[in-house]
Amino acid sequence: MDIEILNRSLFEAKSQLLVLPVIESQEYGELNEVNHKLNNAVKDAIKDKEFEAKPNQLYSLNTLNNLSHKKILLVGLGKEEDLTLEKIRQAYGSCSKYANSLKIKHYSTILLKSKKFKPEEITQVLVEGARLGSYQFNKFKTKDKDKLSKINLLSIITSNKEIAHSIKKAIILTDSVLLVRDLVNNPASLKTPTYIAEIAKKVSKESGLKCTVLQKPQIEKLKMGALLGVAKGSTQPPTFVILEYRPNKKAKTIAFVGKGITFDSGGINLKPWDGMKDMRDDMAGASTVLGLMRTAALLRLNINLVGLMPLTENMPSGSAMKPGDILTTYSGKNIEMLHSDAEGRLILADALSFAEKNFKPDKIIDLATLTGACVIALGTNIAGLMSKNKDLVKDLLKASEDSGERIWELPLYDEFKKEVESSIADVKNIGNPKGYAGAITAGAFLSEFVEKTTWAHLDIAGPAFIEDASHYLTPGGTGFGVRLLIQFLLNESSK
Ligand code: BES
Ligand code: ZN
Ligand code: ZN
Repeated sequence: MDIEILNRSLFEAKSQLLVLPVIESQEYGELNEVNHKLNNAVKDAIKDKEFEAKPNQLYSLNTLNNLSHKKILLVGLGKEEDLTLEKIRQAYGSCSKYANSLKIKHYSTILLKSKKFKPEEITQVLVEGARLGSYQFNKFKTKDKDKLSKINLLSIITSNKEIAHSIKKAIILTDSVLLVRDLVNNPASLKTPTYIAEIAKKVSKESGLKCTVLQKPQIEKLKMGALLGVAKGSTQPPTFVILEYRPNKKAKTIAFVGKGITFDSGGINLKPWDGMKDMRDDMAGASTVLGLMRTAALLRLNINLVGLMPLTENMPSGSAMKPGDILTTYSGKNIEMLHSDAEGRLILADALSFAEKNFKPDKIIDLATLTGACVIALGTNIAGLMSKNKDLVKDLLKASEDSGERIWELPLYDEFKKEVESSIADVKNIGNPKGYAGAITAGAFLSEFVEKTTWAHLDIAGPAFIEDASHYLTPGGTGFGVRLLIQFLLNESSK
């Protein structure tokens, strides 16, 4: 979806749909003139309480040729004192969904006037919401392909040229989120570890990242026994992608690590159907790392970054790892592998210690669709955050508040480490057999593989993939984490 600034009057600009954002009981401004041209239809709707400007409320009117736009769409934003940027983002997500439902190709809008937020801020979230909400994954649809809805253009009617920069930023960011959604939505048999590594190379080339792909022989040479253990059951070889962005030698370095299980069948501890059907999403963490690195490079953030993507399938077969096996990790520690479906923490173990040893970053943040327990605890809108570092927790919660991507802290007390102690090796890959505190014991396991670096773990099993559409979210992959962590980096680099 392209975005243009249209420096014209609202009454001269033409489109199939004009979106008018409305704050509850605001002086209606432009709305008065529109209302006038529409013979009081807008005021009537408000008077009759058909439209109350509640957040995300939509109300459409046919203009019957009384305006240069075919239809208008009022979108509610609630009360001014409760207005947030997230509400504006969501409102425009809903507008794009509405435009899609009518197969509208071009819509326009005006910039909301608010005492609380600058036009630049409003533009940024408007474009984010509109572009994210318009996304559809229909590359595998063949019927009536030409009739599928696709919004090509959104015109922002304004004389304010200062917003051009915000538009550019929002396009870079949302393109990255949509790249992640596409990767997560693609079928597992297409997006093998080799395929994702190829995509990572292509994206890196386009965005100016350094990209190194380790193939299986190199992974073997490095003795990443946990990643290799998980890969043993698959006919697809694992890959390990290293992305680097180093704009400034003097700036600090942050490493991101993302779980890249391109399909999680559970392995020998095979999942049942309902637990397995969406498991192509188990590489969401790794794709988010790619999306995030792409964004940081294109926005030229002044901070050094490393992105690591350990990639493999988790499959059952005659050559698969067996419960009771011992895996020797890159760090040298031995894992008693008791459950092949707790595979995410295995590949992360190797990637986390690889990050720490080779890049000596100031901070490490990992993202992983790690546990069903986290989905039970927090649902599908909120990711679990685990860290021992209070400042990092604070900074991530602040970025969450600013970006609208929700995270919530789970306590990573030392006592949870006891749950993953093994009687025959250094650690075991499952905690309490009843699954108690399953998200946290997974975090406690990971903590064994970060020796001294400030580190946070985000369990994104809930919000990475959703069934239902709402506002700017669409069913399937969400791209969760890109906006959160870009916000975190923006806050970090302005410290
Ligand atoms: N990939 C799953 C976790 C998951 C569940 C992601 C639901 C997205 C939605 C992970 O590898 C897994 O299977 N974890 C097990 C761990 C258990 C065996 C200790 C789980 O959560 O059941
Ligand atoms: Zn699993
Ligand atoms: Zn998994």
